[in-house]
Amino acid sequence: MDTETIKAIARRKTTRKYLQRQITQSELETILFAGCAAPVAGNDWHTMQLVVIQNKELLSRISKAGSIGRKKASDPFYGAPTLVLIASEIYCPYPFHAGQQNAACIGENMCIAATDLGAGSTYLTGFLPGFEADSELVKDAGVREGFKTMAAIALGYPEVADESEKKMDHQEIITFIR
Ligand SMILES: Cc1cc2nc3c(=O)[nH]c(=O)nc-3n(C[C@H](O)[C@H](O)[C@H](O)COP(=O)(O)O)c2cc1C
Repeated sequence: MDTETIKAIARRKTTRKYLQRQITQSELETILFAGCAAPVAGNDWHTMQLVVIQNKELLSRISKAGSIGRKKASDPFYGAPTLVLIASEIYCPYPFHAGQQNAACIGENMCIAATDLGAGSTYLTGFLPGFEADSELVKDAGVREGFKTMAAIALGYPEVADESEKKMDHQEIITFIR
């Protein structure tokens, strides 16, 4: 692989077992910077909100609510010490589910930045039905009124680091018209 950016993209993988050790403030800030450098529809950042949650009690409440309905009653955040909620204005003025698309752009930038810093990340949506069903919890989690959480990124250090680089395994999904 060619550049440092491509290397980080190739090394990014979903972490599903985290150490308890918290990421540093400087790493967190770099990851948030990467998120906020993402493209968003109309460059309308006021349609988006990020909530960084490192409070253990709140994380545990969201984890419990988010595991309702899951096949295995396990922590949907895999023990990650940081969770970043990515919310979007419910009545986002842009078509094609722009709020969700914005969240995906922000989230993936954060995941790649985390990889580059040697941290682990998980793009999460599975906990959302349980989380969204508890309006008091959503309020306690700081999600603004009129906003809906579209995704979240779990962050922390992976229990087992995996530095391997992905190969191009999905050539079949690409159509060329030349
Ligand atoms: C929209 C979206 C939702 C996801 N939700 C979850 C989730 O709730 N829990 C989880 O463990 N992984 C979740 N993932 C991670 C995918 O399962 C993972 O990216 C995929 O298996 C490929 O593995 P990789 O990330 O290591 O390349 C999600 C990924 C995306 C893009």
